[in-house]
Amino acid sequence: MTDAGTRWRALSVSGLLAGLGCTTDTPSGAARMPAFSGSGAADVGSPGVPTPSVSDADLVSIAEGNMNLTMRAATAASCLAMQACTSTTTPALPEAPVPGARLVVREHIPINEDWRFYKYPSAAQADNLIYDVRPGVTNAQDDRPADAQPTDAVDVEANQPVLKAWILPSGNDFIRDPARRHVRPPGDPGSDFAFVQSAFDDASWQRVDLPHDWAIAGPFLAGAAVGVGGGMGRLPSPGVAWYRKTLEIPVADAGKSVFLEVDGAMSYAMVWLNGHLVGGWPFGYASWQVELTPYLIPGGANQLAIRLDNPSDSSRWYPGAGIYRNVWLTKTDPVHVAHWGTVVTTENVSAAAATIQVQVTIDNDSGSDASVEAVTQIYALDADGNRGGESVAALEPLATSVAAGQRAQLQGAVTLANPRLWGPPPTQTPQRYLALTTLVRDGQPVDDYETRFGIRDLVFDPEQGVLVNGERIYVQGANQHHDLGALGAAFNVRAAERQLELLREMGCNAIRMSHNPPAPELLELTDRMGFLVMDEGFDAWEQAKPPLDFHLIFPDWHEQDLRALIRRDRNHPSVIVWSLGNEVGEQYTGEAGAVVARELRDIARDEDPTRPTTSAMNYAKPDMPLPAVVDLVSLNYQGEGIRDAPGYAQLTGIRTPPLYPDFHRAFPGKVIFSSENAAAVSSRGTYLFPVAAESSAPVADGLGGDPARAYVSAYDLYTAPFGSSADKVFSSLDQHPYVGGGFVWSGWDYLGEPTPYYQSRSSYFGVIDLAGFKKDRFYLYQSQWRRDLPMVHVLPHWSWPERIGQVTPVHVFTSGDEAELFLNGRSLGRRAKGPYEYRLRWDDVVYEPGELRVVAFKAGATWAEEVVRTAGAPAALALSADREVIRADGRDLAFVTVRVSDAAGITVPRASDSIQFGIDGPGEIVATDNGDPTDLTAFPARERRAFGGLALVIVRGLRGQSGVIQLTATSGSIQAGSVTLQSRVTP
Ligand code: GAL
Repeated sequence: MTDAGTRWRALSVSGLLAGLGCTTDTPSGAARMPAFSGSGAADVGSPGVPTPSVSDADLVSIAEGNMNLTMRAATAASCLAMQACTSTTTPALPEAPVPGARLVVREHIPINEDWRFYKYPSAAQADNLIYDVRPGVTNAQDDRPADAQPTDAVDVEANQPVLKAWILPSGNDFIRDPARRHVRPPGDPGSDFAFVQSAFDDASWQRVDLPHDWAIAGPFLAGAAVGVGGGMGRLPSPGVAWYRKTLEIPVADAGKSVFLEVDGAMSYAMVWLNGHLVGGWPFGYASWQVELTPYLIPGGANQLAIRLDNPSDSSRWYPGAGIYRNVWLTKTDPVHVAHWGTVVTTENVSAAAATIQVQVTIDNDSGSDASVEAVTQIYALDADGNRGGESVAALEPLATSVAAGQRAQLQGAVTLANPRLWGPPPTQTPQRYLALTTLVRDGQPVDDYETRFGIRDLVFDPEQGVLVNGERIYVQGANQHHDLGALGAAFNVRAAERQLELLREMGCNAIRMSHNPPAPELLELTDRMGFLVMDEGFDAWEQAKPPLDFHLIFPDWHEQDLRALIRRDRNHPSVIVWSLGNEVGEQYTGEAGAVVARELRDIARDEDPTRPTTSAMNYAKPDMPLPAVVDLVSLNYQGEGIRDAPGYAQLTGIRTPPLYPDFHRAFPGKVIFSSENAAAVSSRGTYLFPVAAESSAPVADGLGGDPARAYVSAYDLYTAPFGSSADKVFSSLDQHPYVGGGFVWSGWDYLGEPTPYYQSRSSYFGVIDLAGFKKDRFYLYQSQWRRDLPMVHVLPHWSWPERIGQVTPVHVFTSGDEAELFLNGRSLGRRAKGPYEYRLRWDDVVYEPGELRVVAFKAGATWAEEVVRTAGAPAALALSADREVIRADGRDLAFVTVRVSDAAGITVPRASDSIQFGIDGPGEIVATDNGDPTDLTAFPARERRAFGGLALVIVRGLRGQSGVIQLTATSGSIQAGSVTLQSRVTP
């Protein structure tokens, strides 16, 4: 199908849909979309836990309520005949309210502060208000290899009342076929349970602000048989917990529609208001809303209660726990723009002009028909996202009538001359616009709605990859998990921005959201900073990875989850492709797997015909059914070959030769990306000897790996069994220039999945460690991705008192093409990179203390120089902050690097001194870290040992308190250090 064409853009997506028998009910006969040219806890003890009852009436309704009594529904029927759906929005950043926001009618109120939280001491002691029964876990394996074959789901009979039937209706807006939407059964489960009632006294519960991750404070669970092993990060994320908050709703809100919007809650969220079960959403990475209106008491206190249930054995990494993203109350007129109810796309994009298409979905939740006019004005945004004063274009007003209780869509367009295009730096600028849509009824504005977007031309070309505004953008991407290291899953804009800043410094221009919908604000950042994004829905479909992962809900929720992701994210210019899944078990199940893939693909196309779909494949071969289904070929590890270099010969598991050519031949019309490559592992600054002679080798005990200390050598040659070093990846990509680039596994280290040493807490995969310190590999990527930046980097460090006289290989990464190495002034030779070589090696250097100097050359001329000197004993602590002025908003952060130096100021590269931290002024220490995957000291600790001479302190300014914050660091007889920060209340 798609392989017939040469350039994806040339394909009419509506043609594709027609070919599939899809229908779209585009209003006013307007062409729906241009092809591919889119805009783009501390427990508080057991407080006498009451037992909720499910009444007899509820039991009857369970039987009547179309409830699935088995865990695994049949594969959902294909639902190609779907109505045209719409929408997306970019929520405001709570840390820094969206500049220039001028909404006057709609209220979008963050309700993150002052929640009460209670977690049961154990899941066994929890109430029985369960979403659904789960299979017993018989095959949990914490250190299951990432590329192990997924398994069939297990059927389970429901042997107790469950609440699923009351939760499923919350997703109805995201089910295309009205016949498949869910009817809420009668009955009100849980209404007699104390925790949901206003009268319940939660004073003994913990007070928390959101975003909140109940597990990140630890303690880390060390050792075997602790329930949560290294795979899920050794943190207490499993369990059942409640959040409660009182909402004061003014009398004036009577008659309004009021929604609770949750950007992410891990997981199986169920919401009660004033004792009534409102609804919920099981997928912990989804953003969702439930309507509170029917249960709301205007003019009084309203009791909100949210129950979460995080299963054990449910994730291949640290999932986080709790309401870990922002939560909002949205108040609108009953006639309003629907949830994520706008779609802005752009077509005919050139420097001279662009057509902006705006589609608005209007819900009329009032009791009477409404005549509505939608007026949309376009504003330019500056680099910080501030809106300009005057609009730059306006659509002709669009009018419609919406019957009571119904939904209507409007669509219009305007041409903008000389558009400021969105594109990735350094060659382009990520310029953005904002569409402000106002709904007018009877001459009165009843709703206003902002949609941020970008104007860009996106083309997928099988010989070149992706072109943005006509320029080939080679994807220099990184896979990123959702956690923020020591801050856990609790989303924080500044922490995410820092992750992106460091990746950008490395030359990274693209992010794969592995393997779940990201926080909405992360896409605001990628838009603003100009990253390309592969936005991903799932790590598993119907087939299981860990026994209790989200495959359990996939049959019931895949359509809602995928539509919700796309509706939420489709106006982001940074998003260029929808990834439907990662290494799903359906790769192995032939045509049956392809059926699932096809359904997801068609859902994605229905929601957004402007972007291609993909699914990352580490097993599927060109002649298998799955790759034919997706629009782009995304290969995990298969492109450069799996276990196919000499060092990998003795390993068992998936083995493939480099498969780019086979896929290119089989699908000449499809763009190929390397959606995951490398999976190299290392502990920053820890060099182990001997050093592998090959340029890529699986980490093994004694060769690259030290199992006793759980360290992996930082020579950055070693990989997971299925992986390849960066060197091998670069070589493979360079030899297959039609591949559009790739995404390294992984940009940053993340919590959990500590391959190869599962006694640890966090991964070894990152190019940047968990604390944000650069591993040597950072410079290898930079040398390749920023070739115009004069740089050279030498490793290892040069402080080896025990290695005097021993061979100590020296490796150099440079954006130049040659380098000369000097030891104590003596030249050890000048070496040049050969074809497909990315590091310069001096493997025979005999260690002597002193000075190692490397001079790099490019085209014969001196290009860059670096010197490494032998360090003396630890003598002083040097502190430096990433930003010395922060906002006093209770959210902004300063990341302070603490360096152990010798008397001459040289970093002591193996210093592991224990450092104590103190703080004065209106700030607090949120967490400390050092990037060592083996360090099981709880993150909030104010004492942390250095790792590789470095430690990190994360400081937050107290909300509303301007002032000077002083952070001090002390360590025995070492000279103490400090840094001064300013925290400012900014308007
Ligand atoms: C891949 C998988 C990733 C991660 C990586 C490293 O197979 O897709 O999620 O597990 O391996 O182990």
